[in-house]
Amino acid sequence: MPRREILTFSKGLVAKQARVDVPEGTWEEEFGREGLVGHETMLYRTHPPTEWLRIEGPLRPRAADCYQVRADDEADPRQDASRLLFNQDVAVSISRRQKPMPYYARNADADEVYFVHRGEGVFETEFGPLNYKLGDYIVLPRGTTYRVCPSSRDQFLMLIETRAEVGFPDPTMVLGNHMPIDRGLIEVPEPQAFDPGVKGEYEVRIKSEGEYTSVFYPFCPLDVVGWQGTLTAFKFNVEDLRQVHSHRIHVPVPAYCTLVAEGVAICTFTPIPFQLEDPKAQRVPGYHRNVDYDELVFTHAGILMSRSRESGIGTGKLTWSPQGIDHGPHRKAFEQSMQMERMEATIVMVETSRRLRADRSFEEAELKDYAYSFTK
Ligand SMILES: [Fe+2]
Repeated sequence: MPRREILTFSKGLVAKQARVDVPEGTWEEEFGREGLVGHETMLYRTHPPTEWLRIEGPLRPRAADCYQVRADDEADPRQDASRLLFNQDVAVSISRRQKPMPYYARNADADEVYFVHRGEGVFETEFGPLNYKLGDYIVLPRGTTYRVCPSSRDQFLMLIETRAEVGFPDPTMVLGNHMPIDRGLIEVPEPQAFDPGVKGEYEVRIKSEGEYTSVFYPFCPLDVVGWQGTLTAFKFNVEDLRQVHSHRIHVPVPAYCTLVAEGVAICTFTPIPFQLEDPKAQRVPGYHRNVDYDELVFTHAGILMSRSRESGIGTGKLTWSPQGIDHGPHRKAFEQSMQMERMEATIVMVETSRRLRADRSFEEAELKDYAYSFTK
């Protein structure tokens, strides 16, 4: 098929380069494809495109206070994590499990990525145990048999299920093999051949096409004494990520990609210095209407810098910017960021190429006026 010709045009008042020295009295919007790495045009507007009077229709930036989510597995250990948002490729849920799973779980529908926002404990897996703590990502390939055993009371795990196999982005990108994480820091379990010595039966609860089947054994199903191969459970911590940073320009989202699966990208932002060596460099991410990805942003720690301090979009909040409608910084954030030396938040972001749908748990914890927090 013939390739599409790419033409670049420039009209009117523009910055010489994107994100730096934006003309006085203008607001820069990135109108682009493929999540800021595809074709794009920078638009220089006389108003922030998020300062709407009102929105009529279903499309709007949304947010939830995840601490208000009633996690089904908190009171009843046989229940699952509560699903907030989903599409064909991915589901995002919250687990606040207090007691060990009274069964062994196996998800035949999806790979699972757990992010530990709060709590400690152990994932007992067929490959061996993986202890977890604050800031850990635990990755379980589809079909892994495992059991979650919390050891502290305050548990808050975000579960991201991906229908396609999840893994690290291509390490042959310009960054080489040691960024954003050195492969030497990835921890895989030692086989343990668990034997709790329970008399009676052991249940493996398999999820397939959203339905459950229980298989009962007279022995512990985590009885693996050795393993060898390319597929395993593993973990790493946000502290192990060495983020890309520029002292002269705001680095856009794709540089922060941590894990990818078909239709899904999981990115992590950790505290970094601002662009201190160029006073004209914009420090907050620009406006855009993300036409190819829904964007979920969960604040693990700190305050989201692109919102004003007064917005209260801090720890435990999840924002959802659907495809097609603008989002971006509150106008106060531009000034506030110029008075700060560092971006102090730790953020987990999930980008999805298919549109997400909200589940009951998201709607119950929703911050109702969030779409208008851009304008106040
Ligand atoms: Fe965005």
